Amino acid sequence: MNDSAPWVNPLRDPDDLRLPRIAGPCTIILFGVTGDLARKKLLPAIYDLANRGLLPPNFGLIGFGRRDWSDEYFANWAKEHVQKTCRTPFRESTWNQLAGGIRFAKGTFDDTQAFVNLSHTLNDLDRERNTHGNHAFYLSIPPSAFPIVAQQLAKSGLTQSRQGAWRRVIIEKPFGHDLQSAEALDRTITSVFDPDSIFRIDHYLGKETVQNLMAMRFSNMLFEPIWNNHYVDHVQITMAEDMGIGSRAGYYDGIGAARDVIQNHLIQLMAITAMDEPVDFTARNVHYEKAKVLSAVRLPKNLALHTARGQYAEGWQGQEHVPGYLQEEGIGPDSHTETYAAIKLWIDNWRWAGVPFYLRTGKRLGKRVTEIAIVFKPAPHLPFTANATQEHGPNEIVFRIQPDEGITLRFGSKVPGSTMEVRDVNMDFSYGNSFTEASPEAYERLILDVLLGEPPLFPTTEEVNLSWKILDPIEKFWATQGQPEQYPSGTWGPKSADEMMAHDHRAWRLP
Ligand code: BG6
Repeated sequence: MNDSAPWVNPLRDPDDLRLPRIAGPCTIILFGVTGDLARKKLLPAIYDLANRGLLPPNFGLIGFGRRDWSDEYFANWAKEHVQKTCRTPFRESTWNQLAGGIRFAKGTFDDTQAFVNLSHTLNDLDRERNTHGNHAFYLSIPPSAFPIVAQQLAKSGLTQSRQGAWRRVIIEKPFGHDLQSAEALDRTITSVFDPDSIFRIDHYLGKETVQNLMAMRFSNMLFEPIWNNHYVDHVQITMAEDMGIGSRAGYYDGIGAARDVIQNHLIQLMAITAMDEPVDFTARNVHYEKAKVLSAVRLPKNLALHTARGQYAEGWQGQEHVPGYLQEEGIGPDSHTETYAAIKLWIDNWRWAGVPFYLRTGKRLGKRVTEIAIVFKPAPHLPFTANATQEHGPNEIVFRIQPDEGITLRFGSKVPGSTMEVRDVNMDFSYGNSFTEASPEAYERLILDVLLGEPPLFPTTEEVNLSWKILDPIEKFWATQGQPEQYPSGTWGPKSADEMMAHDHRAWRLP
């Protein structure tokens, strides 16, 4: 095979769904390899891809880190973590194949020689494994380290590819902490990488259930005709977690719930729920529709009434008594960081004018659940006696993003018996009952897409900036409001969040 010619996957025919999408020869260089994300998500996802036969035999993985590790030590360390967390069964044969291409590059970000050594390691690996010089740099590191790593990669010539080969960079959120810092971050990355080679990860977009939102909306006649302000009363998007911040105080404090997940995951879910039909699922057209709907978002004027934030206090999570946020290790007693955030948004277009979108997220809530609920207007007239519909509420379509992935339709039905009494019932689609295939982890899908150079599931810089434009005024307002309201762990958040809904004569769903 000619080394400098672009590698063309002989098995790929995008129109033939029977053929798997398999990555071509390449190497992933993982920065931040000993971090939480790499151990718990990235390494297992790479293994699972290999185990599913979606990585080529000529695949390499280089961990870059401070520790004084040999290739072998790193490979064994990685194996231990993968064995604990992989989704598919652990097979020695898969691992051995993968391990043959695993290397460790020792160094710190400010050490120029370490990057020169890295380029030698890469060249050797390219030769030994015939990886065709295709390199994906995965920056699983704090954004404060982006500028120095980007500079070092450029200085050592690692951002330049030889003819026919590609260079890509994958960056993890947070993409800044406001619009200004996001733009600065973008300038740093685009100064050394071509914009088309930058992949920003929002792992929610890699979830099957999130992609299914588009499949369900745009492949059926049933839903789209009622997906608008004629029929929809409001939309509730909830991402609730039962866990606290764990050992992530250093990252979380000063960031808070809204920057951590509303700016990215929840606003992306809202965009996909609300956007118009894209011409097709190419990156250009999906990104265009998402950016269009994000540009139409408007904040309510009175942010005191239409937003809420809270901080978890000690309480009971199931059987366990858990400490409050201010007692967590690494958190100061006067931290103003919110662990719960709820906001209301309007979308100013023909489809959604007058339909509020409510977004909420929190840690240490009643249970772990992410869902999107489309809540419909009441029927124009109910020809029943008032008593007969006491247990009949609004119709709902609920996308159960996780866990218990599926979709629920909620509507009124006659209670069996000799009177005409209506009660709400659920009709459920659940992945477990309908499909035999297990869903891949979000990171499997996203890493594969990067290696294939397919960007539809990655937010663009425009989407990131538009999301900050939505959040910045809220953060600015909250910064003047002192300490967030406390809510006991294991409950559904602060009272002000319920008041925010009550003010609109609505209530949060109890998922
Ligand atoms: C991350 C946030 O992006 O998403 C975490 O930084 C959060 O705070 C996590 O816990 C939740 O992800 P998932 O996939 O478990 O819902």
